[in-house]
This record gives sequence, C-alpha cells and structure tokens, in this order.
Amino acid sequence: MKALVLCGGKGTRLRPLTYTLPKQLVPVANRPILHYVMDQIRDTGIAEVGVIIAPETGEKIREALAPNPWGFRFEFILQEEPRGLAHAVQVAEGFLGEEPFLMYLGDNLIGESIVPFVEEFNRNDVEAMILLKEVEDPRMFGVAAVDEAGSVRYLVEKPKEPPSNLALVGIYLFSPAIHGAIAEIEPSWRGELEITDAIQRLLERGRKVRSYILKRWWLDTGKKDDLLEANRVVLDELVKEELRGEVDGASRVVGRVSMAEGVRVRGSTVRGPVVIGEGTVIEDAFIGPYTSIGRGCTIKNAALEHSVILDNAKVIDIERLEDSVIGRNALISKCTRNGRALRLMVGDDAEVLL
Ligand code: DAU
Repeated sequence: MKALVLCGGKGTRLRPLTYTLPKQLVPVANRPILHYVMDQIRDTGIAEVGVIIAPETGEKIREALAPNPWGFRFEFILQEEPRGLAHAVQVAEGFLGEEPFLMYLGDNLIGESIVPFVEEFNRNDVEAMILLKEVEDPRMFGVAAVDEAGSVRYLVEKPKEPPSNLALVGIYLFSPAIHGAIAEIEPSWRGELEITDAIQRLLERGRKVRSYILKRWWLDTGKKDDLLEANRVVLDELVKEELRGEVDGASRVVGRVSMAEGVRVRGSTVRGPVVIGEGTVIEDAFIGPYTSIGRGCTIKNAALEHSVILDNAKVIDIERLEDSVIGRNALISKCTRNGRALRLMVGDDAEVLL
C-alpha cells in the first residue's frame, strides 16, 4: 500500500498566517501539522509516500519534509491548480499505479492512531473506506449516510440539509477502482472534482464502501479558534517535560514544559503545558498554560496564556495576552510615548481586538 498526502490548495481560512505559510505547515505545539500526518503514516508501515504540492508552496513543503526522520521514499507531485481532491488523485495516477492507497489531507489532525482503520480495510473486501466523525454542524464537510453495520449508503459534499451528523474526516482508503470512478465524475458547483462524488459513483456502481467512526478528537485546523484548540489538545496529550535552556534562580517552571536548546528564562514564571522553541528569551514574564512559543522569540515584561506565538515574534510590555495567534516576526508592544495613541502596522486580514 502507498500513501498520498495532499498539500496543494490555497488555504484561505487561516489568513493572514497562510499568506506566507502553507496551512499544512502551520505549527501545533511547535511542530507543523504535516509532521503529525507523517507520524501517523509511518505507524501503518507504509514506506512510499506521494505528496501533492502546489506551485506557490511546494518548495516550502519539500523543505519541511527534507530531514525525513520517518525514512519514507517521497515522491513530490505537482498539481498546477487546486482543481479538487479527486483531481489530485488523477494527477498522482502514475505514482499510485494499480495499488490500494491511503489518502490523507495534509492539514488534518486526529487524536487516535489510523492503524486499526487500515487493518479493517485490509480485512474487508471493499473498494473504499472512509473515516467519519460526528460533528455538530456538518454542512461545511462531506457527509455520509451509513447503515448499522457501517456500510456507506450515500455521500454528499457540503449539503445544505445533511443526511446525518457524520462528517468525512480527510482520511480515506481506496482500491484502484477509484480511478475509474473519478474518470466518470464532473466538476461540482465550486468547480472542483470532488472525491466525495467519486466515492458516491463507486456506490452507484454497486461497489462496497465501509466507514470507520473516529472515537477521539478531530481538528480540522481551519480557523484561529480551531488552531488554538488543536494547540491545547496536543499540548495536553503529547508534551513531555524537557528543559534544555537556562532558567535563572529568580524563575519558576511548573508542570510540563518543553524548552529547546538556547532558551533563556529570567525572572519569569512558566506554567505548563507549554513549549518554547530554540533561542527564545523570556524575561520578567508569565507564560501560562496552553501556550506554544516558536523559535527566536522575545517575551519581555508580559503575561500570556492559551496562545500560539510563531517564530521570531516579540511580545513586550503587554499586561495580558490571551487566546491569541501571533504570526512570524510580528511585534506586539505598548508604545509609552505620547499618551494613549495606538500605533499599528497591521497586515492584510489581521484581527486586532483592543
Ligand atoms: O477536512 C475534511 C473535508 O475536506 C471533508 O469533509 C470534505 O469532504 C473534503 O472535500 C474536504 O473539504 P475542504 O473544502 O475542507 O477541502 P480543502 O479545499 O480545504 O482541501 C483539503 C486539503 O487538500 C488541503 O490540505 C489542501 C489540499 N488540496 C485541496 C484541493 C482543493 C489539494 O492538495 N489539492 C486541491 O485541489
């Protein structure tokens, strides 16, 4: 079995972060989402991984995967335009050949192993298997109607009237029969070749499609609050205590805190779960739970909590920052000159709540 990881697309929902960073590389607990995806694939024993890339962001995706601690044989496959998930499979046909494959959307994060899902596919004589999760409002997802035995009856993409609360998580298993089904579908109302429609076509041809329901969390890290939630959950579950920086005698580090090489903490309190990236300086500050701080940041005379600070950002003289996502190289500081005036340099699509 091979794997196909989709890292194309445009990524408009996490703007402004995704102007400069593909959404698959947005960090959660200081690791790109895509690295968690690769961990999952490694655990299944798959060795050959095709990665769909877009012309604008492909180079960044390659760089992020270059150290390859998973030992995969990677093949990077260029999709010139984001014409849909099924189009991505078409573009990868040469790589996939006549083998079954696991397809994984590169911006999806889930809280349990996919190994049982893959094992169930291998045990059953089916053409496709889909991973589902019960959600409150499934209208922005693909949605499935399934019977009691887990067989899929039909599927629909982003329905106004969903047939169930079961959303398609972006993780699928296919036999090579999917290629024939993709060849028979037309672009949807949003102009994309939908994988959901191709699976529906399999069903119409009388082929069997099974479902597997995810028991634990799924975070489709689409928006700021999703990203903060993903960060919270991953910090809670995965962060191990590891103190590699320097902490002075006037500081207190409490709970699970992971500090990389070259971190300096002076006169501050850090209360985990927290991760702090290489070379970051924390001075006269309070870092509260569920905070991830990237590499090369400066946090000085400030208190922050439940926030994600990306590489090389500075937070200086800020009484309290909460539930915030701060992009790379950003500066958040109080200007003490000249009374109360605010002095801002805010990028496109930014949100400033004062
Ligand atoms: O997140 C789960 C949902 O993903 C499913 O419930 C839907 O059935 C499925 O269609 C998909 O919907 P989205 O509209 O959220 O997909 P999005 O356009 O965000 O693309 C998902 C990933 O695939 C993203 O990492 C970018 C990549 N992609 C997307 C397109 C359209 C490609 O690599 N190529 C593409 O052409």
